Amino acid sequence: MHDRLFEPLQLGELRLANRVVMAPMTRSRANVFDEPDELHVAYYGQRASAGLIIAEGTYPSLVGKGYCRTPGIATPGQVAAWRRVTDAVRTGGASQVLQLMHVGRVASRHNKPEGVETVAPSAIAAQGSLYSDSHGLVPMELPRALATSEIAGVIEEYRQAAVNARHAGFDGVELHCSSGYLPMQFLLAGSNRRQDGYGGSLAKRIRFAVECLEAMVGAIGAGRVGLRIIPGNPFNDMQDDDPAATYGALLDAVNPLGLAYVQVSRSPQPGLDAFALVRRHFRGGVILNDGFDGATARQALADGLGDAVSFARHYIANPDLVQRLRQGAALASFDRTTLYTPGAAGYIDYPALPVHRSETCLP
Ligand SMILES: Cc1cc2nc3c(=O)[nH]c(=O)nc-3n(C[C@H](O)[C@H](O)[C@H](O)COP(=O)(O)O)c2cc1C
Repeated sequence: MHDRLFEPLQLGELRLANRVVMAPMTRSRANVFDEPDELHVAYYGQRASAGLIIAEGTYPSLVGKGYCRTPGIATPGQVAAWRRVTDAVRTGGASQVLQLMHVGRVASRHNKPEGVETVAPSAIAAQGSLYSDSHGLVPMELPRALATSEIAGVIEEYRQAAVNARHAGFDGVELHCSSGYLPMQFLLAGSNRRQDGYGGSLAKRIRFAVECLEAMVGAIGAGRVGLRIIPGNPFNDMQDDDPAATYGALLDAVNPLGLAYVQVSRSPQPGLDAFALVRRHFRGGVILNDGFDGATARQALADGLGDAVSFARHYIANPDLVQRLRQGAALASFDRTTLYTPGAAGYIDYPALPVHRSETCLP
């Protein structure tokens, strides 16, 4: 089989040295200012042999924060802090984008400063709980429904976040439009009961995501903007009776924008081939995700299902994943108990394989 995994790839303006992508992962280690620090510099720097790093879900505005210790890209301090991370990644050779994650109703007041509210398309709470440092597991907040006149302001926050990400040294941004966060809350009727131009018909429900993308594209260029979707993903109390229709309509609307890529995960919905759906409705680059290892990634690329493959869990304990896939080396497994805990343990202390003498530049 022809091995495309290590071939370079151009996705819009993004130049990837290989087709191994680090998928976005929230690791809950931002400092008290919601900034990345020296831990993140080490963590992302260690993984910079990836063709592309999609850095963890990061809020465009404080209202869009829901979990504890997640970073933002809203303040000058956050931009400067991310700049230290992107410098390290660039030195290591990877292209890099920042995932913009506004959680909408998937939030707790205990994870935000006092007075910062929780907003969503409609005042419908997601059933479920999330963790807060001060109160442990807490139910998700009942959100306030955004007024029609406020929506342009939220879209502006995404636009500004894209600009900030570029100032911070990222090559681009990715809109997080899955896992039950704000853009997906607009997409689905269960969380969107609006009667205005952003709710009701499917055409109106996709409008928020499309306008966010348009704003980001207008600010930093289409070739620097990606989109993440997981059709039919029920995570965070979402229900979609017809994901093929929902995401077909979304992708049809997005396609003319000329985005750098769509990152798509397998659909948890039986019978729905999300990879084929994206190929049918989107002409740009496709990053495949969910459950891949080296062999299945190679096969998927050989079969033309997508242009690159993203790995999340394998990247936790294998900072040198590219080298391991190249050598066919065993992959290390990660410690679940340190996924979201502060500090270096389980974050930057997974070792790389020793470099064989023949691979070094020494004489
Ligand atoms: C610890 C952890 C944190 C995650 N955080 C995010 C996130 O911030 N944004 C996102 O889009 N997906 C997130 N995901 C989902 C992954 O990007 C990916 O879709 C999923 O793990 C399946 O890919 P894999 O089989 O390669 O792990 C997270 C997954 C894990 C394990």
